[in-house]
Amino acid sequence: MSEHSFQAGATAPDSGAVPGTVFPSTNPAKPAERLGEYPIHGATDVDRAVSAASRAQRAWARVPVPARADVVAAAGRILAERKDELAELVSREAGKIRIEAGGDVQEAVDMAAFVAGQGRSSWGDTVPSELAHKICWTTRQPVGVVGMVTPWNFPVAIPSWKIFPALLAGNGVVIKPSEQAPACCHAFVDACRAAGVPDDLIQVVTGFGETGAALSVHPGVGAVSFTGSVPTGRKVAAAAMETGPRLVSLELGGKNAMIVRADADLDLVTDGAIFGAFGTSGQRCTSTSRLIVHPDVVDEVTERIVARAGQLRLGDPLEDATDVGPVITAESAQRIHGMVGAAVHEGAKLACGGEQVEVADCPGGAFYAPTVLVGVRPEHRIAREEVFGPVLAVIEAAELDEAIDVVNAVEYGLSAAVYTRDINQALRAVESLDTGIVYVNAPTIGAEIPLPFGGTKHTGNGFREAGARGIEQFSQLKTVYVDYSGTLQRAQIDTQRMEP
Ligand code: UN1
Repeated sequence: MSEHSFQAGATAPDSGAVPGTVFPSTNPAKPAERLGEYPIHGATDVDRAVSAASRAQRAWARVPVPARADVVAAAGRILAERKDELAELVSREAGKIRIEAGGDVQEAVDMAAFVAGQGRSSWGDTVPSELAHKICWTTRQPVGVVGMVTPWNFPVAIPSWKIFPALLAGNGVVIKPSEQAPACCHAFVDACRAAGVPDDLIQVVTGFGETGAALSVHPGVGAVSFTGSVPTGRKVAAAAMETGPRLVSLELGGKNAMIVRADADLDLVTDGAIFGAFGTSGQRCTSTSRLIVHPDVVDEVTERIVARAGQLRLGDPLEDATDVGPVITAESAQRIHGMVGAAVHEGAKLACGGEQVEVADCPGGAFYAPTVLVGVRPEHRIAREEVFGPVLAVIEAAELDEAIDVVNAVEYGLSAAVYTRDINQALRAVESLDTGIVYVNAPTIGAEIPLPFGGTKHTGNGFREAGARGIEQFSQLKTVYVDYSGTLQRAQIDTQRMEP
C-alpha cells in the first residue's frame, strides 16, 4: 500500500487548506513512520464541505430507500474485499493488533449488512384512526447534512455506525475524524464512493478541536453525532444546541466493571478480564477497568490475572506474535502513568505493570505494561475516572448489592458484566446495573451490530448507535394523517364511541 493511496479520496475542502497548515498522521508503534499529511481545515473549509454535501443531499434524498440500501450493501462488500488492506492501515494508524484491526473492519462490514437490510424493512408505524375513512402512519425524513466527529480507537467501525444509517436516512455527511486516524476515515469513505455513493455526498474535513467545533455549530448541519470524551462532548452539545435546533447525539466514556461472584468459573473470569482490560490496550470505551470481586476469590483471581498479564507480549501490532500494541500517543502513556501513580498514592497496590515499556523494534512507540492495581477503594480516582489504557482496578465487594452499588456509583453507564453460575444472582444484577449494556459471563467489550450500543448517565444523551434504532439520531419522524371521507372530521370530537 503506497503512503498516499488513501488520500486520493480527499475531498474538495482539502484544496482550501492554507499551505503549511497541515498535520501528519503517524504510526503510534513507530512515530517516525508517517501515514500521510492532512490539512487543518478551518471554518471556511467546513462551510464549503457542508454546502457541497447539502447540494448532493437534495438528489440523494429522492433516491428510493431500497436503492440507497443497495449502495450501503455494496460498500459492505467492498470493505470485505479490502479487509486485509484496511486492517493493516488500522494497525499502522491506530496501533491495533492484527486480529483486532480485522475486527474493526468486520464491524463495518456487519453494519453495512444490517443497515442495508433496514432499507427493505419497516420504515414507520401505521395506526388505526379513531375516525372513519382516515389513515395514519409515521415515516422518516432526513435531517439534511449530518456533522460527525469520530475517535481514533475504532477508526473504521465508528464511522460506519454513523455514516451508513445517515446515508440510508437520506442525508449528506461531513465527517471530522480524530487527528490520530484521518487515513482510516479517508479509506472508509473511498470504499463508500467506490460503491456508488455520490462524490460530494460525504465530505471529510480534517484537523483538531477547532475543525470539529466549526462543524458542530454550522447552521447547515441538521444533526451532530459525536463520539469521544465527556468534556468535549459537553462542549459540542452545548455549542450545537445554542446555535440552532438540531439533533445532537453523544457517545462518551465508560468506567466499565466486571462483577465476579465467589461461585464464578475462574478460568472464564481470567480469560474475560485479560481480553476486556488489556485487549485494544484498554482503549475501548467498553474496556473493563474495574473488577469487583468477592473477597473469597479475590486473591486467586488476582494471581491468575497477574500471571497471564505477565505473559502478554507487547510489540509491533503488525507482528502476529504481538498481544498488546501501543497506546495511541506518548502523552496518553504519560497520562495513564500519572493515574496509576495517583492510585498508588491514594493507597492502591501495584500487582503488576505500572510502567512504560520500550519495545526494541518500535523506537519511540508508546507502550504501557498491562497493569493490575489491588486494594482499590470505590472512592479512589482510579475507580471512578476513565483511564483509556491497559489498567485494571481490583475492588472487593462481598454482597451482590454492594458490588452493584459500586458499579453504579460512577458518572458513566456504558457496559457492565457479571460472572456467576447462579441464575438468580445474574438476573438480579442485569436488573439493577445502571448501564446501557450488560453481559453475563462475558467481558464488557464485544457488542454486536444488530443491538443498540450506548449508555446511561454521562455516557450519552439517550440515543443509541447500531441496532434497529441507530437511525433515530439521523432522521426525524413525520406523522401523516390522510382523511379520505370528504368531510371535516374532528379528532376527539366526532369520534364514534360505543355506549357501555
Ligand atoms: C468503542 O470502544 O468506542 O463493544 C466501541 C465493543 C466494540 C465497540 C467499541 N464492538 O467493544
